[in-house]
Amino acid sequence: MKNQQIKLIKRPFGKVTFDCWNLENSLVPEPNSGEVLVRNAFISIDPAMRGWMNEGKSYIKPVALGDTMRALTVGKVMESKSEKFKTGEWVSLGGGVQNYVSLPESEITKIDTDFCEPEVYLGTLGMSGLTAYFGMLDTGQPKAGETVLISGAAGAVGAVAGQIAKLKGCKVVGIAGGSEKCKHVVENLGFDACVDYKEDKLRNQIKEVCPDGVDVFFDNVGGEILDTVLTLINKKARIIICGAISQYNEVRPTGPKNYLSLLVNRARMEGIVVFDNYKNYASAIDQMKVWIKDGYLSTPMHIMTGGVPAFPEALNQLFAGKNTGKMVLEC
Ligand SMILES: NC(=O)c1ccc[n+]([C@@H]2O[C@H](COP(=O)([O-])OP(=O)(O)OC[C@H]3O[C@@H](n4cnc5c(N)ncnc54)[C@H](OP(=O)(O)O)[C@@H]3O)[C@@H](O)[C@H]2O)c1
Repeated sequence: MKNQQIKLIKRPFGKVTFDCWNLENSLVPEPNSGEVLVRNAFISIDPAMRGWMNEGKSYIKPVALGDTMRALTVGKVMESKSEKFKTGEWVSLGGGVQNYVSLPESEITKIDTDFCEPEVYLGTLGMSGLTAYFGMLDTGQPKAGETVLISGAAGAVGAVAGQIAKLKGCKVVGIAGGSEKCKHVVENLGFDACVDYKEDKLRNQIKEVCPDGVDVFFDNVGGEILDTVLTLINKKARIIICGAISQYNEVRPTGPKNYLSLLVNRARMEGIVVFDNYKNYASAIDQMKVWIKDGYLSTPMHIMTGGVPAFPEALNQLFAGKNTGKMVLEC
């Protein structure tokens, strides 16, 4: 058995190029006492990975040059030197872009694959869903009858954020790239409308479907989209800065020019990091399971094949918007 690993060997300048990565083979690690050997089955492909490749201060340490790329994964226990885990159990973990990993029992969580497919624990029941849950409910505080706008609406976080706002009785509008994605957002996710930012006149398109203005904006994209929405917010609006994927490959990211709209509208713009809520993950997952079971929350997945060697291509495809739903790499 060999362990294929993707190592970060160069920091990108702008877009990620293939020469940032090296595919290496190593031996399958032996678990020490208290450790569990896991065979990763699915690797989460996340926009945040772009940030982890950069040097400098952030909410988490950068991946060091020469290290295996950081990634959340789900997989099966192959060998356990822990009382808490048995061979064959499914778990979620920070398993990295590789086939096998040995980790201490404290860094591994059991998942219930009778309830849903294991990869859903990387999407709606994983970091993406939790980000949407806490960002929308705690920071967005949507109230029935309000208008909630969501960028990146066809993606992993955006899809869940919108469905939660719908559950709270809001009018929910998405922003996504292309007519196919917009159709999916309305027909499969139940949003009231979705506008295509790749078409002209985004501001007019939003105004048309949000005639009463925007009360909550859940922003995954940043850049020009954020700037445009700032001109359409209502008094006391809440803007959740969840991410800014349009800026991650920019050498000099640009901030919003229209920020004075926050002053005029006594509005609030707040950044969120999902990890701050870790103590409440279990209760949020329990709640989302109920919504899934009752048919209120769908869990679209975008599964790429090709195993560990396909990781560099998968990450590029995420930034090119090839995914609808949560992108994972099967390995
Ligand atoms: N704060 C936190 O704790 C936290 C946690 C998880 C994720 N996030 C953030 O949440 C956001 C969404 O993450 P996700 O995992 O759900 O990804 P995702 O939305 O599933 O996938 C990324 C999507 O971004 C869109 N995109 C790519 N480049 C773009 C551009 N230049 N302008 C506009 N849209 C662009 C593409 O959709 P289109 O085809 O529609 O363009 C693509 O499908 C990211 O910004 C991520 O960093 C934050």
